Amino acid sequence: MLPPRLSIVLPTLLHATQRSVATYIDFLRSSGPLHNPFAHNPTSGLDFFNGNYYVNIILGGKQYSVIIDTGSSDLWVAGSVPKANDTGVSTAIQYVIGAEAGPVKTAQLEVLGFTVPDQAFIEVPSRGDVRNGTGLIGLGPNTLSVIHNALNKQSSGDTPLDRIFRQNLTTPNYLTVLLNRPNDIAETYIGAMTIGEVLPQYSNISNQPKVPVLALQSNLSQDQHWLITLDSNGIIGPNGKAVNVKSNAIDAPTHNASQLVAGIDTGFTLPQVPSEVAYAMYSGAKGAKLKNLQSYNGDIWVIDCDAEVNVTFLIGGQSYHVHPLDTNRKGTDDDGNDICFGPFQPLIAGAEDSTYDMILGMAWLTNVYLLIDYGDFVDGTTNTDNPYIQLLPMTDPAAAHEEFVATRLNGKDSTSSRHNSGSGGAKGLFDKHKIPILATAASAAGAGALLL
Ligand SMILES: *[C@@H]1O[C@H](CO)[C@@H](O)[C@H](O)[C@H]1NC(C)=O
Ligand SMILES: *[C@@H]1O[C@H](CO)[C@@H](O)[C@H](O)[C@H]1NC(C)=O
Ligand SMILES: *[C@@H]1O[C@H](CO)[C@@H](O)[C@H](O)[C@H]1NC(C)=O
Ligand SMILES: *[C@@H]1O[C@H](CO)[C@@H](O)[C@H](O)[C@H]1NC(C)=O
Ligand SMILES: *[C@@H]1O[C@H](CO)[C@@H](O)[C@H](O)[C@H]1NC(C)=O
Ligand SMILES: *[C@@H]1O[C@H](CO)[C@@H](O)[C@H](O)[C@H]1NC(C)=O
Ligand SMILES: *[C@@H]1O[C@H](CO)[C@@H](O)[C@H](O)[C@H]1NC(C)=O
Repeated sequence: MLPPRLSIVLPTLLHATQRSVATYIDFLRSSGPLHNPFAHNPTSGLDFFNGNYYVNIILGGKQYSVIIDTGSSDLWVAGSVPKANDTGVSTAIQYVIGAEAGPVKTAQLEVLGFTVPDQAFIEVPSRGDVRNGTGLIGLGPNTLSVIHNALNKQSSGDTPLDRIFRQNLTTPNYLTVLLNRPNDIAETYIGAMTIGEVLPQYSNISNQPKVPVLALQSNLSQDQHWLITLDSNGIIGPNGKAVNVKSNAIDAPTHNASQLVAGIDTGFTLPQVPSEVAYAMYSGAKGAKLKNLQSYNGDIWVIDCDAEVNVTFLIGGQSYHVHPLDTNRKGTDDDGNDICFGPFQPLIAGAEDSTYDMILGMAWLTNVYLLIDYGDFVDGTTNTDNPYIQLLPMTDPAAAHEEFVATRLNGKDSTSSRHNSGSGGAKGLFDKHKIPILATAASAAGAGALLL
């Protein structure tokens, strides 16, 4: 079986060329933690830096800033961890881009106010792009965990969340994540992550449809990600029509071919979509050119910065509009020239898989508040509920359009609304400016200065 492969950082956005899951050039945010990780508070603010979202943890008494990654299932940190025990086992994790390897150790972990006395993790050597004091926390299913397998599937090798859920059966088995949009002038928060409770501002998420997580056959369980199906014909393109594309996920459980299978991945910068989907989104956009750029690890649609690309996803009978600032981002090409590009990227080599059609990474997830209920995916659980995902829409099409006009069209609306795909319900949930969460104005401004 293949190890977890849904994690990626886009080196181009980082102005770096390392093929690594994590690039920490000029990593500065550790000086200003957004929360006190020692306090019992299952909610944490997130830091955004270089295309990744970070949460603070304490491991062996030392603070680390770790990437949150629902697309993999292991904890690793760079630099030697104090008060850690060596298990005598070493292992390696291969991501879509990059790999991490080192000894498997155990140390006391504190995360979001929960304490695990002896959490297993991989200690990787710090190096240029992977700084001492940083790392990654995998939030995927336990069966995907490389450490769990390296330790012969003993419970001591369970993922951090499995350990937390197991040690106190009263803690509800779910995680929620809210990601902000980098550089968004209207957003005043950095993002947040919670375990076992929902953000009170968005408690309506519990009324959202429970979209079942697809469980792979047992012989594929080591490739299990947080997989869901979109509705039939579940992507409405810029022309207001459903994108014509069939599922190619032959190893996903039986599903209607008109329903695409998607992996939910907070650690993947650019959503990975079938080439037909990227074509439908971008080929008609102003200035559109499909280019193969090394710094984007493959094909990418380059488009004009003022091209407003509307796309709406249908999941569980609900509409999830994608903000036009998420379908058209600023970046640089291989020569360092400024470009705008379509973050919904035709699947790059290595990101393709027979168990899913697409990876809904950060540029999609910024449009939802995400809840993952682990159900009976937790190792050793007596819970018999199937895992599910709930998604609360966070992007109001009209407000998003206004924001695009303000930031990319100098306030002059030159678009017509003939392609209005509509959004359906949930209007009442949107505030023009979303409610700030945890991040203070000062820390939000501090982070803003670091954004690209
Ligand atoms: C490390 O090993 C010692 C001795 O076996 C044990 O007392 C301690 O709890 C272990 N600590 C961790 C974090 O595993
Ligand atoms: C990592 O940082 C700690 C302080 O947080 C320091 O004591 C240690 O020497 C550093 N290790 C390396 C390899 O730089
Ligand atoms: C277990 O979790 C519940 C609900 O979160 C909490 O009230 C309780 O204090 C926890 N018990 C322990 C021993 O941590
Ligand atoms: C939740 O949704 C209902 C109906 O959609 C609405 O009446 C209520 O105000 C919402 N509550 C919150 C906290 O957003
Ligand atoms: C998994 O098992 C099923 C039968 O239960 C078999 O049809 C399938 O080919 C197997 N897949 C792999 C990847 O081994
Ligand atoms: C698949 O979905 C389409 C569109 O909803 C429907 O027309 C078709 O009957 C479905 N096919 C099967 C095998 O369920
Ligand atoms: C995109 O959608 C918004 C909101 O529905 C609409 O106002 C705008 O005109 C659309 N833009 C294009 C280019 O279709």
